[in-house]
Formats: sequence, C-alpha cells, structure tokens
Amino acid sequence: MKEINRNAMREKASGATRPTAASDAVGVFDSGQGGLSIFRELIAIAPAENIVYCSDGGRMPYGPRPLAEVRRLCENVARRLLAVPVKIVVIACNAASAASLKQLREMFPGIPFVGMEPAVKPAATVSRSGKVGVLATEATLQGELFENVVARFASKVEVLRQPCPGLAEFIEKRSGDAAGLEKLVEKFVRPLVEAGADNLVLGCSHYPLIKDTIRKAAGEGVAIIDPSPAIARRTRQLLAEKGLLADRERGTHRFYTSGEPDLLAEAVKRVLGVDAKVEPGTW
Ligand code: DGL
Repeated sequence: MKEINRNAMREKASGATRPTAASDAVGVFDSGQGGLSIFRELIAIAPAENIVYCSDGGRMPYGPRPLAEVRRLCENVARRLLAVPVKIVVIACNAASAASLKQLREMFPGIPFVGMEPAVKPAATVSRSGKVGVLATEATLQGELFENVVARFASKVEVLRQPCPGLAEFIEKRSGDAAGLEKLVEKFVRPLVEAGADNLVLGCSHYPLIKDTIRKAAGEGVAIIDPSPAIARRTRQLLAEKGLLADRERGTHRFYTSGEPDLLAEAVKRVLGVDAKVEPGTW
C-alpha cells in the first residue's frame, strides 16, 4: 500500500496522474542522437503519432558512467517527457535501459516503457559458427539486463562481448571524419570476426547510424543485427493493444536537447532528412 502511495506521489510530481489519451505524444529518449535510429523506424510505421524526442546530449556519454548515475539522469529525462504529457516512453538507448528500465516501470506504473536490450536472441538463433559478437557501451555490458538476456536466449552460443569506449561519442560529435571512424570501428569489429563471430549485434542505438561502416569492417558473410525496427514495432504494438494509437493524418515531431541544439539539428537532417527546430531542454 505504502509503495502504491509513493508511486502515486511520484507520478503526481511528474504531471503523469491524468489518464493517457490516444492524442498524447510518444516520448523517445537517448543520451544523444542514437535514438534517432529508432525514431526513423517509428515514423515509418506510425506516421500519425506526435513524437517528442529528448537527447541528453549535455551529459552524453552515459556508457562509461556507473549505472546508479545513469539511473538518476534517466529519471530526470523521463520526468520531463511525462510532463509533456506522453502516453508511452521509448528508452531508445541500451545503456539507459540497462540502468533504469526496471526502476522507471516501478516509479511510473501508469505509463508503458519500451526498453532496449542487445538483440542476442535473433543472433543466437541464426548463428552457424556458434559465436555471436555484441558491440555495446560499458554500461550495457555491465548491466543485469544483459546477463539475463544471455542466460535466457544464448546459452547454446558463445557471446563475445566487445565494449566500444569512445565510439558513441565519435558518432555524436565527429560525423565528418570518415577515416577516423573507420579506424575506430575496425579496432572493435576485427577481433570479433577473427574470433569467429558470424553475427554482430548492434548493442547501442548510435551504431545503426554507422551500419555501413560496421558492415564494411566486418566483411562478407557476417550478419549485422540492428534491433531498431523491432523496437519500433513493439512500440506500435503496445499502443494498439492499449487502444492508444493516434487517429490523425500526420503527426508532428519535436526535438529537445540538454546539449548543443545545432549538433542535434544536424543529426536530424542526416538521419531523418528534415530541417527541424531543436529546442534547448532543461531537466
Ligand atoms: N546510445 C546509447 C546506447 O544505446 C549509448 C551512448 C552513450 O554512451 O551515451 O547505449
């Protein structure tokens, strides 16, 4: 009972006590621009939805931070989104999901949260070599969520964990330096391929934004597993199950960042092909 009251108070503090409506927006967040890989898939299958994107670019990267700190940062962004209000929150970040998915679901039981976990299951199902590589940030590979996924779905294959320090930051800040990016990607991808991995899981939402570079480094015969379409489908399916799909011709999209608005605007242009106004976000 006490727990329920505490949850109610927390929801009140975030402005999330009113019932959700189909006309409310979908909230998407990431530590930076990586969540745009999910956003892109979402607008393709749910064009009627209004979507609010929050990038915590001022505090990016999350990956090297302790999970408890990432958890605090995620709570702040989630509260900002709930105050919009939104009818669902997509945590379009593996590191954030590893740290905070469980806690946010407990804190805000009235709002569905969609989280990300490395797509080890589909990779393990199709692997012929019995070795699957996972590219992710340090936070994701440290999390309980990851170990659960491996234990549940990948007991018959060897999971090669490859932390990629600096890669998400490179994608975020230096999109023009193709040669530098290739070199960094090679460093992380080659050892996995040389160890026999025939499937590489993109375990950070920034990585689908450089899928071609990863594919080139991996070479022929190695499958790249990008979870973003499945996350978008799951979001749409949850909205449909709850009778919360928007009923309008075309939705609007808003972008906020705690970092540099120009940097996110440039990424929106590159990933979604549109000129968007990016507003400074405080949370
Ligand atoms: N995009 C985030 C993820 O999916 C990580 C980037 C970061 O380290 O902040 O894990």
